[in-house]
Amino acid sequence: MVLRKNILITGASSGLGEGMARQYAARGRNLALAARRVDRLETLAAELKKAYPGITVVTRKLDVNDHDQVFAVFEEFREELGSLDRVIVNAGLGKGQRIGTGRFDANRETLQTNFLAAAAQIEAAVGIFRKQKDGHLVVVSSFLALRGVPGNATAYAASKAGISSFAEGTRIELLKTPIKVTTLHPGFIESEMNEDISKLPGAVRAEPGAQALVKAIESETAKAFVPTWPWSVLSKLFPFVPASMLKKFG
Ligand SMILES: NC(=O)c1ccc[n+]([C@@H]2O[C@H](COP(=O)([O-])OP(=O)(O)OC[C@H]3O[C@@H](n4cnc5c(N)ncnc54)[C@H](OP(=O)(O)O)[C@@H]3O)[C@@H](O)[C@H]2O)c1
Repeated sequence: MVLRKNILITGASSGLGEGMARQYAARGRNLALAARRVDRLETLAAELKKAYPGITVVTRKLDVNDHDQVFAVFEEFREELGSLDRVIVNAGLGKGQRIGTGRFDANRETLQTNFLAAAAQIEAAVGIFRKQKDGHLVVVSSFLALRGVPGNATAYAASKAGISSFAEGTRIELLKTPIKVTTLHPGFIESEMNEDISKLPGAVRAEPGAQALVKAIESETAKAFVPTWPWSVLSKLFPFVPASMLKKFG
């Protein structure tokens, strides 16, 4: 397995992105961290550089919905680190609202951020990887990509189903090249999106969640449900759950 030294993570200012940055810093990798809350990125970068003086950590303010900026910032990171060996498309949000209740604004923002902006990040990363003739693309989708779901999660699940398909198509496009693609389908992991995990079935705390994500990424598998237990087993059952039962959770 190739050691991917320079790793770009979007959405690194909190939650899963921050957790993966901490895990990779401890493994001696160089980091390029992006998000809108750049103050949080700078605090994290200072902490990681102090704890692991051998690594380089660079940060940039980035709103992934500004697609030109996505391409510009990824290229700046590449120049700064010399190469990008792995890009983790992680920035996302779960702000959706019940369909037809006057909150298309929230559903549009969810679809734009989790699908269109993630597609822009995939384009930018793969463009760089094609020139380098090497690289590992990681797309953070969701367990909920597997089904249409009701309630506040309808737009979220649809955005994740869309980006999973986009990532799979990209992976097949790049078969027989040195460029690898992994799609992650996390279950419930503690983060700003899921602050109170006590009521969420199968949820894990932030640190074991980040460890499980990094383990799956390092395997460079095509697709992983994370943490494996219980989400890999549930992924086999979820397609058969009757709509009437899903409705109760909406
Ligand atoms: N936690 C879970 O259980 C879970 C499960 C399945 C999938 N996921 C996925 O994991 C990813 C990370 O979510 P999380 O749970 O860690 O939530 P989180 O703590 O809310 O983190 C979301 C991250 O995305 C960034 N972000 C959001 N909108 C952005 C934008 N327009 N431009 C740039 N960055 C943006 C945020 O940074 P700024 O606000 O600073 O920009 C933040 O760093 C998401 O794609 C989410 O769908 C999470």
